[in-house]
Amino acid sequence: MPVVQRLAGFAAVPVAAIALLWAFGWLAAAPSALAAGACLASGGAAILLLRRDLRRLAAGIDRQGRRFDALAADAAAARRASETILDSLPDPLLLFGADRTMQRSNAAARAAFGTEMAAVLRHPLLRGAIDRAFATRQAQTADITLPVPVPRDVQASVMLLDPVLPDGTTALVVLSDRTRERAVERMRSDFVTSASHELRTPLASVIGFIETLRGPAADDPPAQRRFLGIMAEQASRMHRLIDDLLSLSRIELNEHLPPAERVDLARLVRSVAAGFEPRLPAGRLNLEIAPEVPEVTGDADQLAQVFGNLIDNAIKYGAEHGEIRLRLRPAAGPRWPARPGVVVSVADDGPGIPRQHLARLTERFYRVDKARSRGAGGTGLGLAIVKHIVNRHRGQLVIDSEEGNGSVFSVWLPVAEG
Ligand SMILES: Nc1ncnc2c1ncn2[C@@H]1O[C@H](COP(=O)(O)OP(=O)(O)OP(=O)(O)O)[C@@H](O)[C@H]1O
Ligand SMILES: [Mg+2]
Repeated sequence: MPVVQRLAGFAAVPVAAIALLWAFGWLAAAPSALAAGACLASGGAAILLLRRDLRRLAAGIDRQGRRFDALAADAAAARRASETILDSLPDPLLLFGADRTMQRSNAAARAAFGTEMAAVLRHPLLRGAIDRAFATRQAQTADITLPVPVPRDVQASVMLLDPVLPDGTTALVVLSDRTRERAVERMRSDFVTSASHELRTPLASVIGFIETLRGPAADDPPAQRRFLGIMAEQASRMHRLIDDLLSLSRIELNEHLPPAERVDLARLVRSVAAGFEPRLPAGRLNLEIAPEVPEVTGDADQLAQVFGNLIDNAIKYGAEHGEIRLRLRPAAGPRWPARPGVVVSVADDGPGIPRQHLARLTERFYRVDKARSRGAGGTGLGLAIVKHIVNRHRGQLVIDSEEGNGSVFSVWLPVAEG
C-alpha cells in the first residue's frame, strides 16, 4: 500500500506532535483528534496530487525521450541520404568547413584524385579561389592544371553555402575535368592555324607573281609564261588542299555511321591500281590478290580513296624506281582482330619512316619531311583521310616501317556478315 506508507511518512511528524500535546494535557482530546484527522486528510490529498503530477511528468519525459530517439534516427537517415546523393554525383565534390579545411569529399572526388588529393588541396590557384569566395561571399572559379600522374585540366568552382549546413559545411568545391575539352580546343585552334598557314604560302606566292607580272615582267613574255606556270601549280595546290579539307570534314561528319554497302575488294583494288597506270611504268606496281577473298561492308568510293592515297604515298616517298606491292588477303594471325577480316597492304622499298614519327603520321598536316612532301605536291592530309575512313569502317590501320627498309601500310576491314 504505497499511499498508506507514504501518508505514514508524510503525516507522522504533525500527528505525533498533536499526540504529544494531547498526552501532556495541553490539548483536549476532541481538537487533537480533529487536528490529526485534518493532517492525515491534507497529507493524503497532497500525496495523491503529487502522484498524479509525477505520473504526468514521467509520461512527458517518456514522450520526449521517444521524440529525441526519432529525431536522432531522422538525422542519421538524412546524413546517409546526403552522403548517397553526394556519392552519386558524377563530378568530384569537396566540402569545406568554416576554417577553410576540407571536411568531406564524395566518391567521384576520391576516385579522381585519390592519393593526389593533398596536392589538389594545396594548389595555390584553388586556395586563392577559396579565399576569394570567403572574402567576397560570391562564387569563384579557378582553372588548375594537375601535372601528375597524367596532366589534367580541372576547373574548380567554389560556392559558399548560406546558411551553413548543420554539419558545419560552409563551402562546396566542384572539380570538373576539362582535359578533353581543352585538348579538343587546342586541336581545333592548331588545325585552324595549320590550315591557314598551308593556304597562305601558295596564296602569297600567287600574289607575288601577279605583282611581278604587272610590273617588272609586264613586257617579258618568256618570264610571263614561266610565272603563269608556277601560278597555275600553286592555285591547283590550294584547290587540292581545300578539296582534301572538305573531304575530311565530310568523312568526319558521318564517321559514327558505318557504311552499309557490300564491296568486292578484289575488283576495287584492281580498278584503283589500273588508275595509276599512267604514272607507273609497267612492272612497278605488283598486285597479289588471294583467291576467294570474302566481301567486306564498306563504302566503295571511300575505300578507293584509302588505297589511292596509300599508293600515291608509296610512289612519292618510295624508292625512285622501286617496286610497290599491293596485297589483298584474308586476315590471319594474332596481330589482327579475332573477327573475320580482310587485309589490304601497300608496301614500298623506300627509305622508311623513323620510329618517332610513326604515332603522329595520321595527324592532319603532319609530314616527316615538309620540304619533300610540299615538293611532291602533298598537303599532309592523305593519311588523316585514310585514318578517318578506316575508323568509319570500324577497321584498323597498321604502319610498319624501319629506316632504310621501306614501309608497309596495312588496312584491316571486317568481312560482310551473312
Ligand atoms: N610510304 C611512305 N614512306 C615514307 N614516308 C611516308 C610514306 N607515306 C607517308 N609518309 C610520310 O607521312 C607524311 C604524311 O603523309 P600524308 O599522305 O598524310 O601526306 P602527304 O603525302 O604529305 O600529302 P597528301 O597525301 O595530302 O598529298 C608524308 O609527308 C611523309 O613524310
Ligand atoms: Mg599522301
